[in-house]
Amino acid sequence: EKGTYPYYMLKEIDEQPAVMRKILQHYQGEQQQLEIDSAITETMLASDRIYIVACGTSYHAGWVGKQLLESLTHIPTEVHLSSEFGYNTPLLTENPFFIFLTQSGETADSRQVLVKVNELNHPTLTITNVAGSTLSREAQFTLLLHAGPEIAVASTKAYTAQIAVLAVLADVVGKAKGLAQNFDLVHELALVATGMETIIDEKERLEQLATEYLSVSRNAFYIGRGMDYYVAMEAALKLKEISYVQTEGFAAGELKHGTIALIEEGTPVMAIITEESIAGHTRGNVQEVKSRGAHSMIIAMEDVAEEEDQFILPQVHSLLTPLISVIPTQLLSYYTSLHRGNDVDKPRNLAKSVTVE
Ligand code: F6R
Repeated sequence: EKGTYPYYMLKEIDEQPAVMRKILQHYQGEQQQLEIDSAITETMLASDRIYIVACGTSYHAGWVGKQLLESLTHIPTEVHLSSEFGYNTPLLTENPFFIFLTQSGETADSRQVLVKVNELNHPTLTITNVAGSTLSREAQFTLLLHAGPEIAVASTKAYTAQIAVLAVLADVVGKAKGLAQNFDLVHELALVATGMETIIDEKERLEQLATEYLSVSRNAFYIGRGMDYYVAMEAALKLKEISYVQTEGFAAGELKHGTIALIEEGTPVMAIITEESIAGHTRGNVQEVKSRGAHSMIIAMEDVAEEEDQFILPQVHSLLTPLISVIPTQLLSYYTSLHRGNDVDKPRNLAKSVTVE
């Protein structure tokens, strides 16, 4: 039930702090430490490479997952689009471990890969929001997102839930491998939940930014580097699918290799900056587009923010920044779609679960 909310999407955006806490609850054992089925941990520790397979928003969560898994488990990880994998299968290592990321658990493109991988007898894990879904039943292992039903076509809380569950998985496997970790994920995810609330409380500011930057433009760009690039891809998908503004998510440094030709007077360019090591470079890229007339917006995390930045994000651990930086982009998409008079929850040409290849 959406209750007093005008659209499910807004309700689902608001639910994200609670989803973070629910995930912590579900994956905490008696001593408060994070736990998952030890068969999953053992199988992953025996593998020499992780292959993440997904579509759309789940694919974008997969890129953040790669970063988390490689940082915390030191197992090389690849991310693949389901619809490409079947026909353009990458070279597999001797002991691959497959992770299928799918909110619905019913996506046909992902299922066709799972069927093939099962024929090869490789271990498989589905991370899904829907217990008993097709991809959950057909994979060897399942981890649930515990995000509650997601009704709006545009995925929001499933994206952040996928990242949080991947963080839990990476943390547990990394510890089982004996890798020293200098952070307490339970504590850091609790900080994320609080940070999300802070941003959600700033809806009015984001509605104002949506009006100022995105109410009339036909196209737009999100740029970032590293984790911020992964979020830029997701932010662009979210904006285009519900507002119909043609949007690209771009690696900030790659713009000057061609795409900068598209920047005109007034083109909105939203830059995401969460990390010290890339902040200077991305700010340089913002200057480049600005001097070509772009209407630039900087969304920056506290420690690297400057006073004139348009939106400041509460500080969280560097491996978890996407959980925070994606929130304002979800709200910018929501308000842009709303102001343009679109049906926010049911964008044209799209269905919630895509059961054809
Ligand atoms: C975008 C969106 C889609 C889905 C994609 C995969 O907001 O919802 O891109 O992420 O169709 O769906 P699942 O995760 O159900 O496999």
